[in-house]
Amino acid sequence: MKTEYFSGSLDELQADALLVEVYRDFRLPEAFKGAFKKAALFIEERLSCLEKKPDNFEVFYFPFPEGGFKFVLLSCLESPDADGVRTAASKLLNKAEALGLKRVALFPVGHDALGEEAVYYTVEGALLGAYSFSKYKDGASKGLDEVVFVGFSEEGRKLYERALTVSGAVNYVRDLVNEPANVITPSVMAEKALELAEGLALEVEVFDEKRIAGLQMAGILAVGGGSKNPPRFVHVSYKPAEPLKRVVLVGKGVTFDSGGLSLKPEQFMRGMKSDKSGACAVLGVLKAVAELGLPVEVHGLIPLVENMPDGGSYRPDDVIVFRNGKSVEVKSTDAEGRLILADALIYASGLSPDVVIDVATLTGACVVALGRYTSGLFTDDDELAGRLLEACARTGEKLWRLPLDEDLMKDIKGDFTHLRNVGKTRYGGAITAALFLKKFAPPDASWAHIDIAGPAYLEESWKYYSKGATGQPVRTLVEFLSRVVS
Ligand code: BES
Ligand code: ZN
Ligand code: ZN
Repeated sequence: MKTEYFSGSLDELQADALLVEVYRDFRLPEAFKGAFKKAALFIEERLSCLEKKPDNFEVFYFPFPEGGFKFVLLSCLESPDADGVRTAASKLLNKAEALGLKRVALFPVGHDALGEEAVYYTVEGALLGAYSFSKYKDGASKGLDEVVFVGFSEEGRKLYERALTVSGAVNYVRDLVNEPANVITPSVMAEKALELAEGLALEVEVFDEKRIAGLQMAGILAVGGGSKNPPRFVHVSYKPAEPLKRVVLVGKGVTFDSGGLSLKPEQFMRGMKSDKSGACAVLGVLKAVAELGLPVEVHGLIPLVENMPDGGSYRPDDVIVFRNGKSVEVKSTDAEGRLILADALIYASGLSPDVVIDVATLTGACVVALGRYTSGLFTDDDELAGRLLEACARTGEKLWRLPLDEDLMKDIKGDFTHLRNVGKTRYGGAITAALFLKKFAPPDASWAHIDIAGPAYLEESWKYYSKGATGQPVRTLVEFLSRVVS
């Protein structure tokens, strides 16, 4: 789908349809009335014939003889906050697509309330909303050919461009996560990282199973042992001149989580191709950071394994000794994420980072606690928590801070080892998983853990997301990194 930014008069606009929001009392936005007087009069006359109040986000349309347009599509918008704007923009595009339209012009939704910022949210909502993973069904040909985004200034153009970059990174992540595990194996993910770096200011190192063994990455070796697709470890770096901070991002890359010998029941195994979402998100953040040229050094560390049952699998009761000397007794081979993340966190120490953030589809318990739409945030650093929560408020990706309750530490103490990989009870499962990771986080850095088990992958469409991968929390992390000033 091509996009274009347009700031001119309506007569010069070439499109099949004009897309704009309308308020529940059938008023058009003031910005639209000001810019396109004649068109507004025509539309308001048509609107005055309607009786039933539209529902929030309901889209309706009628023929529109202005210029070269065939239709005008209107989305009812009750609250023009950022996420309302994204949702309305996405509903407008979905309707245009359903009508078989090819080229549409979209007025910035929410402009009365948000000014030119509305351009940013409109573009983001439109591009995230227009996403579909249809390559195995329709090829690349379906859908809209072109969207023209209307704006009024050079500032608007910059916001448009930033939104293109950020949404592009999110949709890149969604494409990767949605690919099934028979297509994306650990080594294929590593190749994707290498491909991403071509043409961007990114360096990529891929460690194969021998290198992984040499580095004593004991968690990756154990979890990866049961698959015929060998593990990989990927280190992607972005190093601008004179960076303000050094940030390490760690992403859980389990290309499929069958549970291993602690095999998952069928209904929980389904969807486990998405257990690589953290890894994909880290790649997406690096893509956006490099394209935006942010003045922050960012390292992406991605442990990649397939968790499968086999003669080579690790077992319950196995003891794993990590490079930092910590010993772990395996109680469930399904609590594999924390084991591979531990290796990456130990490796992160060697990079002397200021901040370390790991992103993982780590626990079902987090979804039980917070629901499908909110990620768990764990950190002891109030300032880092504040910054991440501020960033997510702007993006509409929901994070909720949960406690790193040290009283639960006794639940993951091993009988014969320092740690065990699951708690003695299932209570506070998201917290005990986070406490486990904390034992491996670099001691001199601020560390946060984001459990994305709920929002990474949706079974049903929601807001501007179609079912499947959401690319969360790429937008929040890019926003966070953009705000690093010193
Ligand atoms: N990948 C799963 C967590 C998960 C669950 C992600 C649902 C997305 C949706 C993780 O590896 C896992 O299996 N965790 C176990 C931990 C348990 C054995 C302590 C879980 O949550 O049941
Ligand atoms: Zn698991
Ligand atoms: Zn898992």
